[in-house]
Amino acid sequence: MSDKIIFVDEDTHTTKYEKYNILLVDDEEDMHNITKMALKHKLFYDRELNIISAMSAFEAKEILKKENDIALALIDVIMETPQAGLDLVNYIRNKLNNNSIRLVLRTGQTSHVLEEEIINKYDINDYKEKTELTSEKLYTTVRTSIRQYELIKNLQEKIDDVTNELNNKNKLLMKQSRSAAMGEIITMLAHQWRQPLATISMNNNNLLLSLEVNNINIDSFKKSLELSNIQLKELSEIINDFRDFFKSDTADVIIDINKLIDESCDLINTTFIDNSIKIIKNYTHKIKIKTNKNDLMQIILSLVKNSMDAFIKNNIKDRLISISTKENYRYIKIIIKDNAGGISKEIFEKIFDPYFSTKNNRNGTGLGLYMSKIILEMHLNGNISVITKDKSTTFSILINKLD
Ligand SMILES: Nc1ncnc2c1ncn2[C@@H]1O[C@H](COP(=O)(O)OP(=O)(O)OP(=O)(O)O)[C@@H](O)[C@H]1O
Ligand SMILES: [Mg+2]
Repeated sequence: MSDKIIFVDEDTHTTKYEKYNILLVDDEEDMHNITKMALKHKLFYDRELNIISAMSAFEAKEILKKENDIALALIDVIMETPQAGLDLVNYIRNKLNNNSIRLVLRTGQTSHVLEEEIINKYDINDYKEKTELTSEKLYTTVRTSIRQYELIKNLQEKIDDVTNELNNKNKLLMKQSRSAAMGEIITMLAHQWRQPLATISMNNNNLLLSLEVNNINIDSFKKSLELSNIQLKELSEIINDFRDFFKSDTADVIIDINKLIDESCDLINTTFIDNSIKIIKNYTHKIKIKTNKNDLMQIILSLVKNSMDAFIKNNIKDRLISISTKENYRYIKIIIKDNAGGISKEIFEKIFDPYFSTKNNRNGTGLGLYMSKIILEMHLNGNISVITKDKSTTFSILINKLD
């Protein structure tokens, strides 16, 4: 635990930048001159200051938009408006989301009540009267602020490193689960191709035979070729259906959720038929949403594939998957329910864990549900939940519309 906490070592302090940037926001020229004089030639942790001057809150905003490595801003309260300084603080913290810059308000006069109220209400680090900032006090304020700023920056870097590491791990898992899903899809594609290929092959053999025995009837020859063409068209349509799914890193597009479910089911329709699985759809009116089509498709395929595996494993007779959609002003819901035997109490808590699978290695990596959860929570602004009872399992996918 202790190696996660970083202390800035005052003596061996090193950093990439040569000077510390300090922003002075005041509409009185004198305040700029006095402050600059007071801090002139002073070193802070072996480094000089680069004092940037802004004569108004507006000017300060423009500077802050471009420069994000400012350790401290000393801000006057009353400038172009009576509370321009406070508005600037709000802007820095809430609009620019800059939480590392240290903010010290400087004003003509104040009361302690006002001071406390302002520190609480506005996210500032200190509140000083202008007269209070003698050169010595100013030096201490700047020094403390820089130290805090360095500490925050260091922590932020650590947090970023950990977040990046986690993101990379998830990306790797995403690739793994995607290639597993693709493997399954290729198997299904091969399956869908078998029928038209068999027809074309039979056709060609018949044509060859009729050529060999010199028994060519132009009409039937033409018919056979036409039949082959229809089958070839079918093959190419199947490829088109699958092609989109193989694209990676696709951008968000506006899709009709019901149509997306239909397309996903079409991809594996032959497998449904072969395994005697009946699909019942119960859609609400057209639901449009801007989202990542392939991600959502992967989730739907993963869920119906799980139902399919459970039907086979539990040897269920009447196999039923019902898919319904719902919508309200806040979210969209996709509900996938099967009667494949349910999920036992022993494993219920674990099914969303990475690599948890009750299938043998060849049939399951145990990433399907974990990745569905990650994709929904991290990319689609949603979540996934499950209920199992009376030998049936219901997965609910929720995608938030707001935000
Ligand atoms: N509809 C379901 N009915 C019964 N059990 C289920 C259902 N969905 C998931 N499970 C259980 O949850 C486990 C985890 O599912 P998950 O999709 O994460 O992995 P998997 O299907 O085993 O492997 P993968 O999806 O990576 O091929 C499954 O092994 C299975 O035991
Ligand atoms: Mg699965």
